[in-house]
Amino acid sequence: MSRAERHLLLAVALCAAVLAFSPPCACAAASGASNGKPLVTAITKDAATSLYTIPIKDGHPLVLDLAGALVWTTACDAAGGNATLECHHHYCMHAHSYHPPNCPHNGYGRADAGDPFRCKCTAHPYNPFSGDSATADLTRTTLSANATDGKNPLFPVKFTAVASCAPDSMTVKLPAGAVGVAGVGRTRLALQAQVARSQKVANKFALCLPGGAGAGDAGVAIFGGGPLFLLPPGRPDVTATLAGETPLRRSKDNFSPGYFISATKIAVNQQQINLYSNDPLLIELSTRIPYTELRPDVYRALIDAFDKATTGRKRVSPAPATATAAGFELCYDSRELGSTRVGYAVPQIELVLDGGKNWTVFGGNSMAQVSGDVACLAVVRMKGEKGNPPAVVIGGFQMENNLVVFDEEKQRLGFSGPNPSPSW
Ligand SMILES: *[C@@H]1O[C@H](CO)[C@@H](O)[C@H](O)[C@H]1NC(C)=O
Ligand SMILES: *[C@@H]1O[C@H](CO)[C@@H](O)[C@H](O)[C@H]1NC(C)=O
Ligand SMILES: *[C@@H]1O[C@H](CO)[C@@H](O)[C@H](O)[C@H]1NC(C)=O
Repeated sequence: MSRAERHLLLAVALCAAVLAFSPPCACAAASGASNGKPLVTAITKDAATSLYTIPIKDGHPLVLDLAGALVWTTACDAAGGNATLECHHHYCMHAHSYHPPNCPHNGYGRADAGDPFRCKCTAHPYNPFSGDSATADLTRTTLSANATDGKNPLFPVKFTAVASCAPDSMTVKLPAGAVGVAGVGRTRLALQAQVARSQKVANKFALCLPGGAGAGDAGVAIFGGGPLFLLPPGRPDVTATLAGETPLRRSKDNFSPGYFISATKIAVNQQQINLYSNDPLLIELSTRIPYTELRPDVYRALIDAFDKATTGRKRVSPAPATATAAGFELCYDSRELGSTRVGYAVPQIELVLDGGKNWTVFGGNSMAQVSGDVACLAVVRMKGEKGNPPAVVIGGFQMENNLVVFDEEKQRLGFSGPNPSPSW
């Protein structure tokens, strides 16, 4: 086995570890509560869209959205007709705390045809991939996952969650088979906040996004935090031995419920890249985009620094059409890059975060294989940015095979790095 193949297996092993265990005990009855145990679910990457899904709606997938304010689904099961919340319900107010772009403000609800004194809550499900939004009932629906002790799935759990119903037309551009979006942003109606209330677990979750889109390449999401023990047995809880953490920030305009952190500088091969200003760099984490997007000034500085740091490496220029289409500028003959246990042997990119820890991007998360012999630096220039965009939006590829912990209670983001155990 080549070093690159071995690396791939190890990387896959990081995400796949929790799923390698036996299925939950079939004799345990489905229940509404996990008795304070976190819930675990597989994460699948869709090859066509590069989006990540979790099978929590009766086994049907919902797309994970770190900047999503709500859970919405086209598979509504308005149980008994009383499932729609009333307008004065506090969840109705929460559902309106973030308003999707280009969606008309039309109040909190609609009159109930059968009862003129009732007002039924509507919300605005939003599809960030098509840009479509709708006005639809805010209802209660049933979701399911497995309780876990961090080593094994223990038993299936069904729980009721507040979700917005959405018309079928809202699934445009979602992966085939997906029946909605699971918003896991920093809101009261996001999936992890609802799991925290219904299961009496911490308001935090951990994601290990899978690197491959093959059948055996599942990642893992744990709602309620850790612990999480990876194979082989005997290794410490990954969530307690993270490589770094940093405070969570808010978006500059407060209009996004997503996850933001702040960096003081960016370095390539430990050399700080030259930016025009020394202002803190706001960084968003996003599962909506496949590859990290950089504000044009940051993009140029990073590309120039990476170019310089790879002088003498064999280039593929002009870049292949697939790379240009993706927006990649720097491409290399991957047969000559050399590999390490964390991917191709290329200069590391460090985001020096508030609090002093570095989010380090090694070859496995910086270089995308665009064809058999060509790998490109997988970052793209931000387009159509308006107002005050973040300096960096970290995309899915750059988070893969890294356990990232989103902790609303401590308002901190933690990460394992691609190599969470020294034994590797
Ligand atoms: C729960 O575990 C079962 C058996 O392993 C699996 O089929 C199901 O997909 C799991 N549910 C989720 C939401 O991951
Ligand atoms: C719906 O609510 C009404 C009024 O509260 C109640 O009388 C009725 O039994 C409820 N129906 C169901 C199916 O829960
Ligand atoms: C973080 O990265 C910077 C820039 O490369 C480096 O100078 C610093 O030593 C790193 N800090 C840690 C804690 O590794």
